Amino acid sequence: MASHLRAPLRAGVTSLLRVPFRVEAVSHCRDFLKITWKDGAKSEFPNIWLRSSIRDEQFFDAGSCLYRLEKYLAFVSKDSSLLSAEYHEGNDFLKVQWPEHSTTFDLSWLRAQDTTHHDNAPQVVTWTADSILDNFFDYSRIVEDMESWMMCLRKYGVAYMRGVPPNEEGLKGVLHTIGKIRQRYHPTDITLLIADHKLAEENDRDVYGFGTLAPHTDHGYYLSQGKVACLLGSRYNAPVQDTVNFFIDNVKVIEDIREEDPEAFELLSTVPIRAARRRLTVQEECRPSEVAMYQVDIHLQRPLIYFDENDGHYKLRFSTKQAGFELSSDKSPSKMLKYYKAYELLRSKVYDPKYQQRIVVKEGMAALYDNSRVCHGRGPIHQTTQRTILAADVVDQVWYSRCRLMLGKKSGLEDRWLFGCSLKALDLLSDRYEK
Ligand SMILES: [Fe+2]
Repeated sequence: MASHLRAPLRAGVTSLLRVPFRVEAVSHCRDFLKITWKDGAKSEFPNIWLRSSIRDEQFFDAGSCLYRLEKYLAFVSKDSSLLSAEYHEGNDFLKVQWPEHSTTFDLSWLRAQDTTHHDNAPQVVTWTADSILDNFFDYSRIVEDMESWMMCLRKYGVAYMRGVPPNEEGLKGVLHTIGKIRQRYHPTDITLLIADHKLAEENDRDVYGFGTLAPHTDHGYYLSQGKVACLLGSRYNAPVQDTVNFFIDNVKVIEDIREEDPEAFELLSTVPIRAARRRLTVQEECRPSEVAMYQVDIHLQRPLIYFDENDGHYKLRFSTKQAGFELSSDKSPSKMLKYYKAYELLRSKVYDPKYQQRIVVKEGMAALYDNSRVCHGRGPIHQTTQRTILAADVVDQVWYSRCRLMLGKKSGLEDRWLFGCSLKALDLLSDRYEK
């Protein structure tokens, strides 16, 4: 077995485990294992939990990361005392023994599982209009700088990339580094955004109109709103007046509401309201016989503010595509009135320029944003402006997979231990070595 000294990152460079991942003392009783770590933190692991976490070959196939369910459940469902827990200074594993079996646990893995020592979302940094965000990247280095721009997206919820080919290949070049583009209920998975009176009238007044596109999160009427979206400028010619895109940090807005008006926060985060989308047309060219295939009529009832366990912070579901309350949700007129005052407070904050970071998405500029972390919108488009934007997004599972794979690789841990870790645990494990 390996010791604290390893070479996980670069050949020829050894690193030492950071203090929180090193053991000070180990003790056990019949039902618990107790570890005191070098940083003073204490962890307590129930025996039954240790047994359920076993990753030995006879119970678990490390190649496919699948439990052998019959043997595994026979083992876990047996009442069996913890006989011993053996640790030797300098080792990064712990030997555990039961009457019928013994195994080893990776100590870093054990430390990362102890949620009592997890911070909420240390990777998130909130911002307003005046904040200086270091969030510009170059497409020519999209692969080399992948960790930087992905971590930037986790930190701020928005990142820009310059020098992207201004076409569908460029958009795929950006998003396919994360994973597969989301399949839409349309003839194509890539949206072409232009200001067009006919499209606005027939499909979406706000998205295709010439006026301001109010701040919103996309797909608020889907259970999963879509995770990371990319807007790519494919044409930009504004002889009279620039068109400005803007982004708003939802975490900051929610924090401010919570501080200024706790009751408003409580209402917005607990009372469900309807999000809806009804669209019988198709904005792309499409055979008349296929129109019905792309029609949507969606209804979802959820609070506007919600806590996301994965990212460890509050998020927002917010757009003009809302349809009021279900009659059954609350019949108290005073509560409803309070709710709508809270809703108006939220709207006024999201629309307030002091929260809005602005950018002109010119040809070859890509804006990547975490859809529920930030609201986005756009200023008016002058009638003489020729501007096209290509847009597409990836869903949660695709984004989190890429994050998890990246963090897991950085941790240097075996697949069998990376399997099933929370994102938070992977965050910790990716930073377990001294730099
Ligand atoms: Fe949008």
